[in-house]
Amino acid sequence: MKAIRGATTIAADTPEEIRGAVKELLTEIKNRNGLELGSVVCIMLSSTADITSLYPAKAAREAGFGGCPLFSSLEPLIKGALPLCIRAMVLAEICGPAVPVYLRGAAALRRDITGRLVIAIDGPAGSGKSTAAKNLAKRLNILYLDTGAMYRACALECVNRGADLSDEAAVRDVMEKLDLKIEYREGRQVTVLDGKDVSEEIRRPEISQLASKVSAYGFVRSKMVDMQRRIASEMSCVMDGRDIGTAVLPGAEHKFFITASAEVRAKRRYDEDRAKGFAVSYDEILKDIAERDRRDEQRKVSPLRRADDAVLVDSSDMTPEEVVEFLANKIQEKI
Ligand code: DC
Repeated sequence: MKAIRGATTIAADTPEEIRGAVKELLTEIKNRNGLELGSVVCIMLSSTADITSLYPAKAAREAGFGGCPLFSSLEPLIKGALPLCIRAMVLAEICGPAVPVYLRGAAALRRDITGRLVIAIDGPAGSGKSTAAKNLAKRLNILYLDTGAMYRACALECVNRGADLSDEAAVRDVMEKLDLKIEYREGRQVTVLDGKDVSEEIRRPEISQLASKVSAYGFVRSKMVDMQRRIASEMSCVMDGRDIGTAVLPGAEHKFFITASAEVRAKRRYDEDRAKGFAVSYDEILKDIAERDRRDEQRKVSPLRRADDAVLVDSSDMTPEEVVEFLANKIQEKI
């Protein structure tokens, strides 16, 4: 009999987060160790004291791991410990070596085992970088951070508070009171503004232009960059944006700059927006993209540009699958 260790973290103390994280952790332990459920003798789970909304053992039973004795316990409150963490010990009859599994923020606990992977992807609007980053994160089973969503949320908050974006003092005031949280629910990034999920609302076409405007303020960027660096220092992640490889994570080991012709990007955005039911015109989108490119490239603070050590990917004639394959191969070559 062998003991297999594992751990993961949740973004918030909610039953859904606990269910999602426990299911993912135990499924990964099962898959990476080639376990048959019948060979599992027992599963012990523990959670940090900030997790109170559901027994992890109950989540395990609900996820189909209830065929053996399950047990969950509370860990002592240790100062400086990784918060919102769930640990697992699975005892099972296996022949090979036990493969430990550390996911999400818990990867930071055992870098000796997991190695932290930080991938920076930059590029202009519509280059396909977000799709690529999302798919790559899924494939590597690490977190995806869409930094554009954070600037979009800042823009939305200015709209909500009636602040004129060209009035620096008004924007500064909004930013001082900003209540923005990035959460992860079942592997999906959720942008929470003033306690409300605004993930859909920030995708509105008019918010795109406003986000580009608000992101030109240095004080907005420094606040967002602090949040982004904190996330990247705690866990493996794929981060996409305009300045990740140059300013946010200049030391990232893996950097990519994804681009495509303005026409291809406009057509992609047009198809996406139409699919979402927005009434948009191709010509307007093309104009909007050109305008945003100009603003993002010419702003004084952290303009959009390729880091010298970033791999350039022109996705004009590539499918989303081909882009991910290319990125994954490049990363593999380096590891
Ligand atoms: O990637 P996106 O379209 O969601 O980004 C919205 C705007 O936010 C974009 O025009 C530029 C800005 N942005 C930025 O300045 N830096 C980032 N890291 C991400 C986005």
